[in-house]
Amino acid sequence: MTSSLSQELESRFIDLFSVAPQVVVRAPGRVNLIGEHTDYNDGFVFPCAIERSIWMAASPRSDGQVRAYALNFEQSSTFPLNAIEKTQNPDEAWSNYLRAIAAILQREGYTLTGVNVATYGTVPIGSGLSSSASMLVAGGLLLASAAGIDIDLKRLALLAQRAEIEFVGVNVGIMDQFISALGQRNHALFIDTRTLEYEAVPLPSEGVQIVIADTNKKRGLVDSEYNTRHSECEQAVATLKENLPSIIALRDVTIEEFERFAHTLPEVVRRRAKHVITENTRVLESIDALKSGKLSRFGELMNASHKSLKDDYEVSCVELDALVEASRSIDGVYGSRMTGAGFGGCTVSLVANSAVEDFKARVPALYKAATGLDTTIYVTKAEQGAERLR
Ligand code: GLA
Repeated sequence: MTSSLSQELESRFIDLFSVAPQVVVRAPGRVNLIGEHTDYNDGFVFPCAIERSIWMAASPRSDGQVRAYALNFEQSSTFPLNAIEKTQNPDEAWSNYLRAIAAILQREGYTLTGVNVATYGTVPIGSGLSSSASMLVAGGLLLASAAGIDIDLKRLALLAQRAEIEFVGVNVGIMDQFISALGQRNHALFIDTRTLEYEAVPLPSEGVQIVIADTNKKRGLVDSEYNTRHSECEQAVATLKENLPSIIALRDVTIEEFERFAHTLPEVVRRRAKHVITENTRVLESIDALKSGKLSRFGELMNASHKSLKDDYEVSCVELDALVEASRSIDGVYGSRMTGAGFGGCTVSLVANSAVEDFKARVPALYKAATGLDTTIYVTKAEQGAERLR
């Protein structure tokens, strides 16, 4: 599938620009198995890249312009590299990711060249599977490659994160860009978001599948609520610091320390901190469980993560809760939870092979009965991160 899509992109590119692309890249979306809202607290995450990507192709131009075409929307957008501005035109909104990463690369001192660009993606947009991170990572790899720059993928992830924070205005952590850039086929990455060290942990090659289900609920509040959660965590650190002067982030607070000083925090902030601190321990335990083949334990930790996100962090919603409940009612589902920022988007479930057909057959009706909405189900393997294909 991957190679035929990139071939199709190349042939459309020739139709559009009457020249063959010199560079073709791909960057995937992601699903996070566990470790939610921990990354901007210097904590642990455990995502994998999914079998849905953004492909981009480019050929050089000598006039310093970026002339881009999005095949998904059949829309074009052109901007000059020497005066990049965010476009307000809704038909060209997709190009803001390309504009953002081009601006950041140049600000970092990279000399880019003008390019024709065609892009096509299979990452659902606005579903919490990181279509924006994959646009930024693919765009950065494309622009750098077209200019003959061999960019380090970890550095690219950090620049893509900065582009998201500065241009999109959401104070995100590093997880999405990092896994899109550095994901490994058949592995999830256990990432320490403080040191950016990571370990690729093999996912079981037989017996289970990762099943993503989309609530198909548009994520309205996510940006402002996300930024609010981020500042509540900072507030927790500032207050806990009075008794724990050496802490820098919630990552540094043990459960015992938290229990000792929880009373110093306002009620809402206390629950936010509790989620982050307990979620970090769940990630560590889940990796041990996975490594020793204890899938039931891994599933229990996924379920506990969802409960904590729902009750303490308050980023779930009725649709996510209904989908999780429907998924867990299927025999052979080890665990199910919301994934990503929340307020809509997708759930992730770990499902025994033998139960996947049952899941696909029964969860949509259960979810529809509870919410009136249709779900979309994606069964995925862990995919390789960003790569240059040509
Ligand atoms: C979004 C952000 C990530 C992370 C998740 C929640 O996907 O982009 O950095 O914070 O939410 O875990």
